[in-house]
Order: sequence, then C-alpha cells, then structure tokens
Amino acid sequence: MKVLVTGGTGYIGSHVCVELIQAGHDVVVIDDFSNSKPEVLDYIKELTGKEVKFYEFNVLDKEKTEKVFQENELDSIIHCAAFKAVGESMKKPIEYYTNNLMSTLVIADLMKKYGVNNIVFSSSATVYGDPEIVPLTENCKLGETTNPYGSTKAMMERILTDVQRAVPTMSVTLLRYFNPIGAHESGLLGEDPKGIPNNLMPYIMKVATRELECLGVFGDDYDTPDGTGVRDYIHVVDLAKGHVLAIEKYATPGVHICNLGTGKGYSVLDIVKAFQQVNGVEIPYVIKERRPGDIATCYADPTRAKEELGWVAEKGIEEMCRDSWNFAKKHMK
Ligand code: WQD
Repeated sequence: MKVLVTGGTGYIGSHVCVELIQAGHDVVVIDDFSNSKPEVLDYIKELTGKEVKFYEFNVLDKEKTEKVFQENELDSIIHCAAFKAVGESMKKPIEYYTNNLMSTLVIADLMKKYGVNNIVFSSSATVYGDPEIVPLTENCKLGETTNPYGSTKAMMERILTDVQRAVPTMSVTLLRYFNPIGAHESGLLGEDPKGIPNNLMPYIMKVATRELECLGVFGDDYDTPDGTGVRDYIHVVDLAKGHVLAIEKYATPGVHICNLGTGKGYSVLDIVKAFQQVNGVEIPYVIKERRPGDIATCYADPTRAKEELGWVAEKGIEEMCRDSWNFAKKHMK
C-alpha cells in the first residue's frame, strides 16, 4: 500500500515509517520539523535502504496538503502530526487546539474528496481521563480529560468517528497509545524533543547525558505503591509494528478502537531505578509538587490488540531503558 504518514519524521512517525517500509509498503511523509530534525529522513533511508517521498510543511496548509493527495495514489493515512505533551498543553491550549484539531479536519476533508478510505489515528490513553478502573479496556468510558492535549485527542477521535458515519465506506482506526518510550536498536531514531523535555524518559535521558542536572519527580503522594505516577510504558518499535498491523487488518469499513500498551504499570521511580540498573548511569532526582493535569495511574488491557491484530508488545522495560540510553549517547548534548 501507499501510506501517507503525517508527522513522519517525529518520534512515533519515524519508527512507523521504518516498520511500514520493512513490511513492503511505500511511504509518503508530510512534516514541518516543528518537533523533529531533517536528518531523520537519512536515518530512515539508512535503516531501510529506501527513501520516503517527503513534503516539508505543516498539514494545516490545506492547499499544500491537497497537492500531496493529487500527486500520490494514497491507500491509507497514518495521522501522527500533533503537539503531544500533557504538561505543555496546560500552558498552550490555543496552540494545541488549533494545530491538533485543524490538521485532522484538513486530512478528513481531503480523504473524503479523494476517496482515501483508510486512516489510522494516533490517539492516546489520555482520552480515558482519570480512570475509575484499571487496566483500561476500549469499552471504558471516555473520561473528563484533565488537560488540553488529552482533550484534543478526544475531540479528534470524535471528528473522525462522525466523518466515518457520514462516509460509511471509510475505515477509521483509533489507536490509543499508552506511554511510548525507547528508541530503534540502531540508535539512529529516538525521542529528542526540542528544548526542555516535558515527558519523563527524554528528561531522564538528558539527566543521564548531564545536559540537565536533576530529574524533578512530580509528586510522591499519589495512591500508588511508591507514591509516584504509574504509567504503561511501551517500546516505540512495538508501537510502530502495531500501526502496520492496523492498516493491514483494520481495512474494513467502520470505526476500530484499539489500545496499544503492555498491560503493565511502572511508577516514575521504577523507571528511574530500571534506567540506572540497565545503563549503570546515576539519575539524581528530587521530589517536586504534582504537575497540573497529571493522574495517578494508567495502564492498558491489551487483549483486543492481541485478538484482532495478533499484536503483543514484545520489548520489556529493560530494553526500553537500554535503547533510550543508546540513542541519547549518540544524539543528545
Ligand atoms: C509520565 C509520568 C509524570 C516528567 C504521555 C504523553 C502523551 C501521551 C500520554 C501518547 C507522570 C512523571 C514526567 C518529569 C515526572 N502519549 N514525570 N517528571 O503525562 O503520562 O503523558 O502519555 O500519546 O503524549 O505526554 O507522560 O512522560 O509526561 O509523564 O515525574 O520531568 O512521569 O508526573 O507520572 P504522560 P509523561
């Protein structure tokens, strides 16, 4: 298939491109490098021996995006382009709503106009809000999202669900990621956000390279085993493989919803300890106030992904920590 990956040079998108190419698909990418670097295109080529067809602009530019639909016989879209940090979204709600919602409306409108009937949307466990029960299944009700980032993901899911109702031949897949971390084993691709990282693992990576002095742990008074936040961390390569299966197996018309998580929850301090043990690098930390918008615990019930996609996360927390450090040593500082 010919697949358009929006945000295809980003952390998730670049790993998805590699897995798509290795599964025999052709890949087209739109990205404006707002949270990625041009050299990622070279790394994708180095890893796969193939070039993606690349367009540099923000998907908000509907005229340019339409040209991509006109120039390429697209079979499927994987929509990764979005701003994605919970903490940052609390400070920049207007940018998050504008960028994330408008880009989705542009893609949906052009899919309808050009008869592209298959989209896999990069959604998030944050749409569940502060879960009443864990592990989370896809039937759990969508919660009161606790931050603008999560709200945009819930709204984008709503937009695409309503579009599918209006265009019954369309297949819309909502992949709800839990917490993607880790990096490609080559050390060529990984998470390298611009500026001070919002997310836990990139922050740990910068403390490990001594670019940052100390990790702030946002609260140790949650109702969790050690008081720090518990999340379902999933290796980004496992996540990327889930996307390939999703565009291949969820091609039937309708709305398909699927959690991509390991089913295991790890606390902030579990991650710090695992990173130190696996890599032999000390991660100094201090306990700080809770971060507004954070929840205590969130992890997946990944049964549906196994039953419907034949997908199970294969990489454990040690590999996530090892691959993160391997990438950081090559790319950070
Ligand atoms: C994880 C834990 C923090 C930074 C993420 C992504 C979002 C979405 C859902 C994919 C929390 C704690 C963090 C730090 C800390 N993923 N923390 N100090 O908030 O669960 O959301 O997953 O779509 O894109 O943002 O991830 O990594 O920010 O936080 O103590 O410097 O680490 O409180 O408990 P979060 P995160």
